[in-house]
Amino acid sequence: MKVLVIGSGGREHALAQKCQSSKLVNEVFVIPGNDAMEEVATIVSDVQENDHLAIKSFVEQNNIEWVIIGPEQPLIDGLTDALEETNAKVFGPNKEAAQLEGSKEFAKKIMEKYDIPTAEYKTITTKEEAINYVEQCKIPIVLKKDGLAAGKGVIVALTREEAREGVETLYQTPHEKVVFEEFLDGEEYSVMTFVNQSYAVPFDCIAQDHKRAFDGDKGPNTGGMGAYCPVPHITDDVLEETNQKIAQPIADALVSEGINYFGLIYIGAILTKEGPKVIEFNARFGDPEAQVLLTKLDSDFIEILNKVYHKEPLTLEWKDESVVGVVLASKGYPGSYDKGYSVEGLEHVDQYFVSALKKNSEGKYENNGGRVMIVIGTGDNIEAAQKNAYEQVKHIKSERLFYRNDIGHKALKAYKS
Ligand code: AMP
Ligand code: GLY
Repeated sequence: MKVLVIGSGGREHALAQKCQSSKLVNEVFVIPGNDAMEEVATIVSDVQENDHLAIKSFVEQNNIEWVIIGPEQPLIDGLTDALEETNAKVFGPNKEAAQLEGSKEFAKKIMEKYDIPTAEYKTITTKEEAINYVEQCKIPIVLKKDGLAAGKGVIVALTREEAREGVETLYQTPHEKVVFEEFLDGEEYSVMTFVNQSYAVPFDCIAQDHKRAFDGDKGPNTGGMGAYCPVPHITDDVLEETNQKIAQPIADALVSEGINYFGLIYIGAILTKEGPKVIEFNARFGDPEAQVLLTKLDSDFIEILNKVYHKEPLTLEWKDESVVGVVLASKGYPGSYDKGYSVEGLEHVDQYFVSALKKNSEGKYENNGGRVMIVIGTGDNIEAAQKNAYEQVKHIKSERLFYRNDIGHKALKAYKS
Protein backbone atom coordinates (compact mmCIF):
# COMPACT_ATOMS: atom_id res chain seq x y z
CA MET A 1 0.00 0.00 0.00
CA LYS A 2 0.92 3.64 -0.29
CA VAL A 3 0.92 5.95 2.70
CA LEU A 4 1.22 9.70 3.01
CA VAL A 5 2.68 11.54 5.97
CA ILE A 6 1.81 15.22 6.38
CA GLY A 7 4.40 17.51 7.95
CA SER A 8 8.03 18.47 7.67
CA GLY A 9 9.61 17.99 11.10
CA GLY A 10 11.57 15.40 13.04
CA ARG A 11 8.39 13.70 14.22
CA GLU A 12 7.28 13.27 10.61
CA HIS A 13 10.75 12.01 9.66
CA ALA A 14 10.37 9.32 12.35
CA LEU A 15 6.80 8.51 11.25
CA ALA A 16 7.88 8.22 7.62
CA GLN A 17 10.74 5.91 8.57
CA LYS A 18 8.45 3.76 10.69
CA CYS A 19 5.92 3.52 7.83
CA GLN A 20 8.66 2.66 5.37
CA SER A 21 9.73 -0.26 7.58
CA SER A 22 6.19 -1.67 7.64
CA LYS A 23 5.82 -4.91 5.72
CA LEU A 24 2.46 -3.68 4.43
CA VAL A 25 3.88 -0.56 2.78
CA ASN A 26 5.34 -0.18 -0.73
CA GLU A 27 5.78 3.54 -0.87
CA VAL A 28 5.78 6.45 1.57
CA PHE A 29 5.14 10.04 0.49
CA VAL A 30 5.65 13.11 2.63
CA ILE A 31 3.97 16.50 2.13
CA PRO A 32 5.89 18.84 2.24
CA GLY A 33 8.71 16.93 4.02
CA ASN A 34 12.30 18.10 4.18
CA ASP A 35 15.43 17.32 2.18
CA ALA A 36 16.75 14.85 4.75
CA MET A 37 13.74 12.53 4.41
CA GLU A 38 14.73 11.41 0.91
CA GLU A 39 16.08 8.09 2.13
CA VAL A 40 12.80 6.99 3.66
CA ALA A 41 10.15 8.63 1.48
CA THR A 42 9.23 10.41 -1.72
CA ILE A 43 9.18 14.10 -0.90
CA VAL A 44 6.33 16.12 -2.37
CA SER A 45 7.65 19.56 -1.57
CA ASP A 46 5.54 21.46 -4.09
CA VAL A 47 2.34 20.80 -2.11
CA GLN A 48 1.86 22.75 1.11
CA GLU A 49 0.40 21.44 4.36
CA ASN A 50 -2.44 23.97 4.25
CA ASP A 51 -3.45 23.31 0.64
CA HIS A 52 -6.28 20.91 1.38
CA LEU A 53 -7.50 20.69 -2.20
CA ALA A 54 -4.07 19.81 -3.55
CA ILE A 55 -3.58 17.19 -0.82
CA LYS A 56 -6.98 15.70 -1.61
CA SER A 57 -6.16 15.35 -5.32
CA PHE A 58 -2.78 13.87 -4.45
CA VAL A 59 -4.43 11.26 -2.24
CA GLU A 60 -6.96 10.38 -4.94
CA GLN A 61 -4.49 10.28 -7.81
CA ASN A 62 -2.00 8.13 -5.95
CA ASN A 63 -4.46 5.75 -4.31
CA ILE A 64 -3.15 6.51 -0.84
CA GLU A 65 -4.48 4.06 1.76
CA TRP A 66 -3.37 5.80 4.95
CA VAL A 67 -2.77 9.50 5.57
CA ILE A 68 -0.94 10.22 8.83
CA ILE A 69 -1.09 13.83 9.91
CA GLY A 70 1.88 14.77 12.08
CA PRO A 71 1.50 18.40 13.23
CA GLU A 72 -1.38 20.15 15.00
CA GLN A 73 -1.99 22.98 12.55
CA PRO A 74 -3.43 20.92 9.68
CA LEU A 75 -5.63 19.02 12.17
CA ILE A 76 -6.99 22.22 13.63
CA ASP A 77 -7.47 23.62 10.12
CA GLY A 78 -9.64 20.61 9.22
CA LEU A 79 -7.44 18.61 6.85
CA THR A 80 -9.00 15.38 8.15
CA ASP A 81 -12.47 16.69 7.28
CA ALA A 82 -11.23 17.72 3.83
CA LEU A 83 -10.06 14.14 3.14
CA GLU A 84 -13.27 12.52 4.33
CA GLU A 85 -14.61 11.92 0.83
CA THR A 86 -11.46 10.15 -0.37
CA ASN A 87 -10.90 6.40 0.01
CA ALA A 88 -7.97 6.97 2.36
CA LYS A 89 -8.08 6.33 6.08
CA VAL A 90 -6.85 9.39 7.94
CA PHE A 91 -4.94 9.07 11.22
CA GLY A 92 -5.62 12.33 13.03
CA PRO A 93 -8.76 13.89 14.51
CA ASN A 94 -11.21 16.10 12.64
CA LYS A 95 -11.46 19.83 13.19
CA GLU A 96 -14.01 19.62 15.99
CA ALA A 97 -12.07 16.95 17.90
CA ALA A 98 -8.71 18.70 17.40
CA GLN A 99 -9.98 21.54 19.59
CA LEU A 100 -8.75 19.36 22.43
CA GLU A 101 -5.37 20.85 21.54
CA GLY A 102 -6.41 23.96 19.63
CA SER A 103 -8.31 25.57 22.46
CA LYS A 104 -7.05 25.50 26.04
CA GLU A 105 -10.50 26.59 27.15
CA PHE A 106 -12.23 23.74 25.32
CA ALA A 107 -9.85 21.24 26.94
CA LYS A 108 -10.31 22.77 30.38
CA LYS A 109 -14.10 22.77 30.15
CA ILE A 110 -14.29 19.14 29.15
CA MET A 111 -11.92 18.12 31.95
CA GLU A 112 -13.96 20.07 34.45
CA LYS A 113 -17.24 18.54 33.27
CA TYR A 114 -15.94 14.96 33.37
CA ASP A 115 -13.81 15.19 36.52
CA ILE A 116 -10.49 14.63 34.80
CA PRO A 117 -7.79 15.85 37.19
CA THR A 118 -6.13 19.09 36.09
CA ALA A 119 -5.15 22.51 37.47
CA GLU A 120 -7.89 24.91 38.60
CA TYR A 121 -8.30 27.67 36.05
CA LYS A 122 -9.97 30.90 35.10
CA THR A 123 -10.34 32.36 31.62
CA ILE A 124 -9.88 36.13 31.39
CA THR A 125 -10.71 37.93 28.16
CA THR A 126 -9.77 41.54 28.96
CA LYS A 127 -6.42 43.00 29.89
CA GLU A 128 -8.08 45.19 32.48
CA GLU A 129 -9.45 42.25 34.40
CA ALA A 130 -6.14 40.38 34.05
CA ILE A 131 -4.21 43.30 35.54
CA ASN A 132 -6.48 43.24 38.59
CA TYR A 133 -6.49 39.46 38.83
CA VAL A 134 -2.70 39.09 39.08
CA GLU A 135 -2.62 41.50 42.02
CA GLN A 136 -4.64 39.13 44.21
CA CYS A 137 -4.24 35.62 42.76
CA LYS A 138 -2.17 32.88 44.36
CA ILE A 139 1.49 32.88 43.22
CA PRO A 140 3.04 31.02 41.36
CA ILE A 141 0.49 31.26 38.56
CA VAL A 142 0.55 29.95 34.99
CA LEU A 143 -0.67 32.05 32.07
CA LYS A 144 -1.63 30.33 28.81
CA LYS A 145 -2.74 32.04 25.67
CA ASP A 146 -5.75 30.30 24.11
CA GLY A 147 -4.92 28.77 20.73
CA LEU A 148 -1.74 27.30 19.32
CA ALA A 149 1.62 28.68 20.35
CA ALA A 150 4.12 25.89 19.54
CA GLY A 151 4.93 25.46 23.22
CA LYS A 152 5.82 29.11 23.57
CA GLY A 153 2.55 30.76 24.69
CA VAL A 154 2.87 29.59 28.28
CA ILE A 155 4.32 31.69 31.07
CA VAL A 156 5.03 30.15 34.44
CA ALA A 157 5.15 33.19 36.75
CA LEU A 158 6.98 32.40 39.98
CA THR A 159 6.57 35.93 41.36
CA ARG A 160 3.83 38.56 41.17
CA GLU A 161 6.13 40.77 39.14
CA GLU A 162 6.55 37.98 36.57
CA ALA A 163 2.76 37.59 36.48
CA ARG A 164 2.38 41.32 35.74
CA GLU A 165 4.98 41.03 32.98
CA GLY A 166 3.16 37.96 31.66
CA VAL A 167 -0.03 39.96 31.29
CA GLU A 168 1.85 42.60 29.30
CA THR A 169 3.32 39.90 27.05
CA LEU A 170 0.15 37.91 26.38
CA TYR A 171 -2.34 40.76 26.05
CA GLN A 172 -1.10 42.30 22.81
CA THR A 173 -4.54 43.95 22.54
CA PRO A 174 -7.08 44.86 25.28
CA HIS A 175 -9.09 41.75 24.35
CA GLU A 176 -7.24 38.43 24.35
CA LYS A 177 -8.32 35.08 25.69
CA VAL A 178 -5.86 33.88 28.34
CA VAL A 179 -6.28 30.94 30.71
CA PHE A 180 -4.86 31.52 34.21
CA GLU A 181 -3.98 28.24 35.87
CA GLU A 182 -3.08 27.02 39.30
CA PHE A 183 0.63 26.09 39.40
CA LEU A 184 1.11 22.34 39.72
CA ASP A 185 4.20 21.00 41.36
CA GLY A 186 5.60 17.62 40.31
CA GLU A 187 7.36 15.68 37.63
CA GLU A 188 6.06 15.85 34.07
CA TYR A 189 5.75 12.89 31.70
CA SER A 190 4.13 12.21 28.35
CA VAL A 191 1.71 9.38 27.56
CA MET A 192 0.62 8.78 23.95
CA THR A 193 -2.77 7.10 23.61
CA PHE A 194 -4.35 5.60 20.48
CA VAL A 195 -7.99 6.65 20.42
CA ASN A 196 -10.93 5.58 18.28
CA GLN A 197 -14.04 6.89 20.04
CA SER A 198 -14.22 5.03 23.39
CA TYR A 199 -11.41 2.65 22.36
CA ALA A 200 -8.32 4.01 24.10
CA VAL A 201 -4.96 2.22 24.17
CA PRO A 202 -2.23 4.14 25.99
CA PHE A 203 1.38 3.35 25.17
CA ASP A 204 2.78 1.22 27.97
CA CYS A 205 6.05 3.12 27.57
CA ILE A 206 6.23 6.66 28.92
CA ALA A 207 8.50 9.36 27.48
CA GLN A 208 9.83 12.52 29.06
CA ASP A 209 10.40 15.79 27.25
CA HIS A 210 12.73 18.66 28.24
CA LYS A 211 10.74 21.82 27.60
CA ARG A 212 13.18 24.47 28.80
CA ALA A 213 15.90 25.75 26.50
CA PHE A 214 18.93 25.29 28.76
CA ASP A 215 20.59 22.77 31.10
CA GLY A 216 19.02 22.26 34.50
CA ASP A 217 15.57 23.13 33.10
CA LYS A 218 16.48 26.81 32.89
CA GLY A 219 15.52 29.37 30.29
CA PRO A 220 12.39 29.86 28.21
CA ASN A 221 9.89 27.16 27.22
CA THR A 222 10.51 25.62 23.81
CA GLY A 223 8.81 23.02 21.63
CA GLY A 224 11.07 20.44 23.35
CA MET A 225 14.88 20.14 23.56
CA GLY A 226 15.18 16.39 23.92
CA ALA A 227 13.38 13.30 25.15
CA TYR A 228 13.98 9.79 26.38
CA CYS A 229 12.14 6.57 27.00
CA PRO A 230 11.29 4.55 28.95
CA VAL A 231 11.06 6.63 32.13
CA PRO A 232 12.13 4.06 34.72
CA HIS A 233 11.32 6.13 37.81
CA ILE A 234 7.68 6.70 36.85
CA THR A 235 6.18 3.40 37.90
CA ASP A 236 3.65 1.14 36.22
CA ASP A 237 1.19 2.04 38.98
CA VAL A 238 1.40 5.71 38.02
CA LEU A 239 0.86 4.79 34.38
CA GLU A 240 -2.13 2.65 35.34
CA GLU A 241 -3.59 5.52 37.36
CA THR A 242 -3.00 7.89 34.42
CA ASN A 243 -4.90 5.51 32.18
CA GLN A 244 -7.80 5.08 34.57
CA LYS A 245 -8.17 8.73 35.55
CA ILE A 246 -7.19 10.43 32.30
CA ALA A 247 -6.80 8.33 29.13
CA GLN A 248 -10.04 6.34 29.20
CA PRO A 249 -12.12 9.16 30.74
CA ILE A 250 -11.11 11.70 28.06
CA ALA A 251 -11.95 9.23 25.27
CA ASP A 252 -15.34 8.55 26.92
CA ALA A 253 -15.95 12.26 27.56
CA LEU A 254 -15.47 13.10 23.88
CA VAL A 255 -17.96 10.37 22.93
CA SER A 256 -20.48 11.77 25.44
CA GLU A 257 -20.03 15.21 23.87
CA GLY A 258 -20.85 13.71 20.46
CA ILE A 259 -17.31 14.26 19.22
CA ASN A 260 -15.79 11.59 17.00
CA TYR A 261 -12.08 11.31 17.87
CA PHE A 262 -9.80 9.09 15.80
CA GLY A 263 -6.06 9.46 16.12
CA LEU A 264 -3.70 9.97 18.99
CA ILE A 265 -4.15 11.87 22.23
CA TYR A 266 -0.96 13.09 23.84
CA ILE A 267 -1.39 13.39 27.57
CA GLY A 268 1.04 15.93 29.02
CA ALA A 269 0.79 14.72 32.63
CA ILE A 270 2.30 15.81 35.91
CA LEU A 271 2.68 13.64 38.97
CA THR A 272 1.50 15.79 41.88
CA LYS A 273 1.09 14.83 45.54
CA GLU A 274 -2.57 14.17 44.74
CA GLY A 275 -1.70 11.89 41.82
CA PRO A 276 -1.45 12.40 38.05
CA LYS A 277 -3.01 15.54 36.58
CA VAL A 278 -3.24 16.92 33.06
CA ILE A 279 -1.01 19.82 32.05
CA GLU A 280 -2.18 19.71 28.44
CA PHE A 281 -3.66 17.49 25.77
CA ASN A 282 -2.31 17.42 22.25
CA ALA A 283 -4.12 15.98 19.27
CA ARG A 284 -1.03 14.29 17.80
CA PHE A 285 2.30 12.70 18.66
CA GLY A 286 4.68 14.78 20.74
CA ASP A 287 7.80 16.13 19.11
CA PRO A 288 10.47 15.06 20.22
CA GLU A 289 8.69 12.23 22.11
CA ALA A 290 7.68 10.53 18.83
CA GLN A 291 11.29 10.27 17.72
CA VAL A 292 12.35 8.28 20.79
CA LEU A 293 9.15 6.24 21.16
CA LEU A 294 9.04 5.21 17.50
CA THR A 295 12.71 4.21 17.73
CA LYS A 296 11.91 1.92 20.65
CA LEU A 297 8.67 0.59 19.15
CA ASP A 298 9.17 -2.81 17.57
CA SER A 299 5.63 -3.38 16.25
CA ASP A 300 4.66 -2.71 12.63
CA PHE A 301 3.17 0.79 12.69
CA ILE A 302 0.62 0.27 9.91
CA GLU A 303 -0.54 -2.99 11.52
CA ILE A 304 -1.12 -0.95 14.69
CA LEU A 305 -3.12 1.70 12.84
CA ASN A 306 -5.25 -1.00 11.20
CA LYS A 307 -6.01 -2.44 14.63
CA VAL A 308 -6.91 0.96 16.04
CA TYR A 309 -9.12 1.59 13.02
CA HIS A 310 -11.00 -1.68 13.58
CA LYS A 311 -10.92 -1.30 17.39
CA GLU A 312 -9.11 -4.62 17.75
CA PRO A 313 -7.13 -5.63 20.84
CA LEU A 314 -3.68 -4.11 20.65
CA THR A 315 -0.41 -4.99 22.34
CA LEU A 316 2.59 -2.84 21.55
CA GLU A 317 5.93 -4.63 21.24
CA TRP A 318 9.04 -2.71 22.33
CA LYS A 319 12.72 -3.22 21.65
CA ASP A 320 14.66 -4.07 24.77
CA GLU A 321 16.62 -0.81 24.88
CA SER A 322 16.54 2.72 26.25
CA VAL A 323 16.48 5.66 23.86
CA VAL A 324 17.73 9.21 24.40
CA GLY A 325 17.24 11.96 21.81
CA VAL A 326 19.17 15.25 21.94
CA VAL A 327 17.74 18.17 19.97
CA LEU A 328 20.15 20.51 18.18
CA ALA A 329 18.59 23.93 17.74
CA SER A 330 19.63 27.18 16.09
CA LYS A 331 21.32 29.60 18.51
CA GLY A 332 18.70 32.11 19.63
CA TYR A 333 15.76 29.66 19.53
CA PRO A 334 13.02 29.92 20.85
CA GLY A 335 13.64 33.60 20.06
CA SER A 336 14.99 34.79 16.73
CA TYR A 337 17.85 33.01 14.99
CA ASP A 338 19.74 33.10 11.71
CA LYS A 339 19.14 30.61 8.92
CA GLY A 340 21.32 29.42 6.08
CA TYR A 341 24.37 28.28 8.09
CA SER A 342 26.14 25.05 7.28
CA VAL A 343 25.50 21.90 9.30
CA GLU A 344 27.87 19.04 8.53
CA GLY A 345 28.72 15.53 9.66
CA LEU A 346 25.31 13.85 9.47
CA GLU A 347 26.83 10.92 7.60
CA HIS A 348 28.78 9.98 10.75
CA VAL A 349 25.71 9.82 12.97
CA ASP A 350 24.03 6.40 13.32
CA GLN A 351 20.53 7.63 13.97
CA TYR A 352 18.91 11.03 13.65
CA PHE A 353 15.75 12.75 12.52
CA VAL A 354 15.70 16.15 10.88
CA SER A 355 13.29 19.03 11.55
CA ALA A 356 14.78 21.94 9.68
CA LEU A 357 17.66 21.37 7.29
CA LYS A 358 17.71 22.35 3.66
CA LYS A 359 20.19 21.46 0.93
CA ASN A 360 21.83 24.44 -0.75
CA SER A 361 22.72 24.64 -4.45
CA GLU A 362 25.87 22.59 -3.75
CA GLY A 363 23.87 19.86 -2.03
CA LYS A 364 25.13 20.79 1.44
CA TYR A 365 22.89 21.12 4.48
CA GLU A 366 21.98 24.47 6.02
CA ASN A 367 19.80 25.22 9.05
CA ASN A 368 16.32 26.32 8.13
CA GLY A 369 14.38 26.65 11.39
CA GLY A 370 14.50 26.67 15.20
CA ARG A 371 14.77 23.04 16.15
CA VAL A 372 17.07 21.60 13.50
CA MET A 373 17.53 17.90 14.23
CA ILE A 374 17.52 15.25 16.93
CA VAL A 375 20.37 12.82 17.44
CA ILE A 376 19.29 9.45 18.83
CA GLY A 377 21.33 7.30 21.19
CA THR A 378 20.39 3.81 22.34
CA GLY A 379 21.72 1.55 25.08
CA ASP A 380 20.85 -1.00 27.75
CA ASN A 381 19.75 1.76 30.12
CA ILE A 382 19.30 5.53 30.08
CA GLU A 383 22.89 6.16 31.14
CA ALA A 384 24.28 4.12 28.25
CA ALA A 385 21.80 5.61 25.78
CA GLN A 386 22.69 9.13 26.92
CA LYS A 387 26.39 8.43 26.53
CA ASN A 388 25.81 7.07 23.04
CA ALA A 389 23.65 10.08 22.07
CA TYR A 390 26.28 12.64 23.15
CA GLU A 391 29.08 10.69 21.45
CA GLN A 392 27.11 10.97 18.23
CA VAL A 393 26.24 14.63 18.72
CA LYS A 394 29.98 15.37 18.53
CA HIS A 395 29.96 14.40 14.85
CA ILE A 396 27.69 17.31 13.95
CA LYS A 397 29.75 20.31 12.96
CA SER A 398 28.06 23.68 13.08
CA GLU A 399 28.83 26.95 14.79
CA ARG A 400 25.21 27.96 14.80
CA LEU A 401 23.61 25.15 16.80
CA PHE A 402 23.25 24.56 20.52
CA TYR A 403 21.90 21.68 22.58
CA ARG A 404 21.30 20.71 26.18
CA ASN A 405 23.93 18.56 27.86
CA ASP A 406 21.60 16.89 30.35
CA ILE A 407 18.86 15.06 28.42
CA GLY A 408 17.69 12.22 30.65
CA HIS A 409 18.96 13.86 33.85
CA LYS A 410 15.85 13.08 35.90
CA ALA A 411 16.14 9.36 35.19
CA LEU A 412 19.85 9.38 36.05
CA LYS A 413 19.22 11.27 39.28
CA ALA A 414 16.49 8.84 40.33
CA TYR A 415 18.71 5.91 39.43
CA LYS A 416 21.65 7.23 41.44
CA SER A 417 19.68 8.22 44.55
P1 AMP B 1 1.92 23.53 27.92
O1 AMP B 1 2.16 24.21 26.60
O2 AMP B 1 0.55 23.69 28.45
O3 AMP B 1 2.40 22.10 27.90
O4 AMP B 1 2.90 24.21 28.96
C1 AMP B 1 4.29 24.27 28.73
C2 AMP B 1 5.02 23.96 30.00
O5 AMP B 1 4.68 24.91 31.03
C3 AMP B 1 4.66 22.62 30.61
O6 AMP B 1 5.38 21.57 30.06
C4 AMP B 1 5.00 22.85 32.07
O7 AMP B 1 6.38 22.70 32.29
C5 AMP B 1 4.62 24.28 32.29
N1 AMP B 1 3.25 24.34 32.82
C6 AMP B 1 2.12 24.46 32.12
N2 AMP B 1 1.04 24.46 32.93
C7 AMP B 1 1.50 24.34 34.19
C8 AMP B 1 0.87 24.28 35.48
N3 AMP B 1 -0.44 24.39 35.64
N4 AMP B 1 1.69 24.13 36.55
C9 AMP B 1 3.02 24.04 36.42
N5 AMP B 1 3.67 24.10 35.23
C10 AMP B 1 2.92 24.24 34.12
N1 GLY C 1 6.91 17.76 23.15
C1 GLY C 1 5.77 18.53 23.39
C2 GLY C 1 4.86 18.66 22.28
O1 GLY C 1 4.98 18.02 21.26
O2 GLY C 1 3.92 19.44 22.40
